[in-house]
Amino acid sequence: MSIAHELTFTHEFVPAPAGEASKHTLLLLHGTGGNEHDLLALGHRIDPSAALLSPRGKVLEQGMPRFFRRLAEGVFDIPDLKRRTQELADFVEAAAGHYGLDQNRIIAVGYSNGANIAASMMLLRPEVLHAAILFRPMVPLVPEPLPDLSDFQVLIAAGNQDPIIPTDETDRLAALLRNSGAEVTSHLANAGHGLTAEEIDIAANWIAAKLSIT
Ligand code: MLT
Repeated sequence: MSIAHELTFTHEFVPAPAGEASKHTLLLLHGTGGNEHDLLALGHRIDPSAALLSPRGKVLEQGMPRFFRRLAEGVFDIPDLKRRTQELADFVEAAAGHYGLDQNRIIAVGYSNGANIAASMMLLRPEVLHAAILFRPMVPLVPEPLPDLSDFQVLIAAGNQDPIIPTDETDRLAALLRNSGAEVTSHLANAGHGLTAEEIDIAANWIAAKLSIT
């Protein structure tokens, strides 16, 4: 097996339920301090017919797994972010080959730090994903030039009382993705950094409406 095909992240993979028509895979990306188990139930609620691929971030911050290093809260180590984004994108490609997933139907579902690496992957390796649900994201970086995201669908869910992510940061990300050509739906919940049940329903409805296979 070549290096390119090694599955280099600790991860969970849950195949789509037998008999289900969905050909989507949800790439579940946890927040700081999370792991590969955290978002499995959320993924199943968002799309019960999808396969689930859930890696664990390799960076440890005081023992807490993350997907890339930060220098302070909201201040990212950009060279590390770029390197980790490429590494995660390579893993997704390798996992798609290994598990026989349709590479054109991989949807990132990220929360907080996981949403930030998902956005970074869209910006730096857009061929790996085709849609994303970003819960509590920030602008990870601004690439030059911007990628062509004209085939992309994105749902952004922010909280109007989030102490970590100001809403203008979310607006900046939505503008960046729109300027890259993506179709962006934004939802501002009456919430803090934690997710609400309503937002999970919104994500499930969004997937069903935007991405359903007929
Ligand atoms: C990050 O570091 O990605 C963001 O500050 C979100 C977080 O993980 O707290």
